[in-house]
Amino acid sequence: MIRTLIAAALLGFSLIFFSPAFASLNDKVIQIGERATVELMKNLKSRLIAALEEGDPATAISVCANVAQDLTHKLARQIGPGIKIKRTSFKWRNPADAPDKYEKEVLDLLEWIYKGKKILLPFYIQEVTENGQPYFRYYKPILVREECLLCHGDPREMPEEIVETLKKLYPEDKATGYKPGDFRGVIRVSIPKKLIETLVNQEGNKPDEDDGCIPPQLPGRD
Ligand code: HEC
Repeated sequence: MIRTLIAAALLGFSLIFFSPAFASLNDKVIQIGERATVELMKNLKSRLIAALEEGDPATAISVCANVAQDLTHKLARQIGPGIKIKRTSFKWRNPADAPDKYEKEVLDLLEWIYKGKKILLPFYIQEVTENGQPYFRYYKPILVREECLLCHGDPREMPEEIVETLKKLYPEDKATGYKPGDFRGVIRVSIPKKLIETLVNQEGNKPDEDDGCIPPQLPGRD
């Protein structure tokens, strides 16, 4: 069962790069999911660095708090309405980030494979019903890195100002005590199934530049 899941995840991952002609619903989910998660991580990193260079821990803390919501609004504008991004973890800092039952299943599975088999799945896809509507959910696992320890490490080694601010803002905080390489949680991108179908249909109706009889140019051939 697990092996099938891993194989499916890896296969899905390669299809997007090698076979645009096989544009399927899953490929579209992966494409949007990847775009959203890469952007979130990039955004978080650059905004954190900027805030920390200014030497203001309170601003840095608000960066980590607002980044997912800001990106949700941006992607909904760029790609389509109904896309939602959330970060979730068993050891959450903000109770609003606590996992629902579908997210718990995925966190359990990804963490178990990571800890037990030393394999970090590149992603995981679910189809669920939210408020009566079908949604795809794309999950990207997140690991703790050195730069995260400032706010998610051992509180005895974190700056006092940060510890105090976190205590005030997040009295139920469970998200400390991590070490680099620990499984932190997932980024979850929810996309309405209808939106995925519309996007795939639109692409299917466009003329495909790869169609026709011209053989692809391979490197090293004249
Ligand atoms: C400057 C402090 C700071 C740094 C550095 C930081 N975080 Fe956070 N992190 C926070 C705060 C504050 C929250 C709560 C956000 C909210 O209110 O939604 C949070 C929440 C999260 C969450 C959402 C789940 C939860 O616990 O509520 C994840 C996942 C996360 N951080 C991962 C990371 C990762 C990975 C790094 C390193 C790349 C990192 N953080 C670096 C302060 C920080």
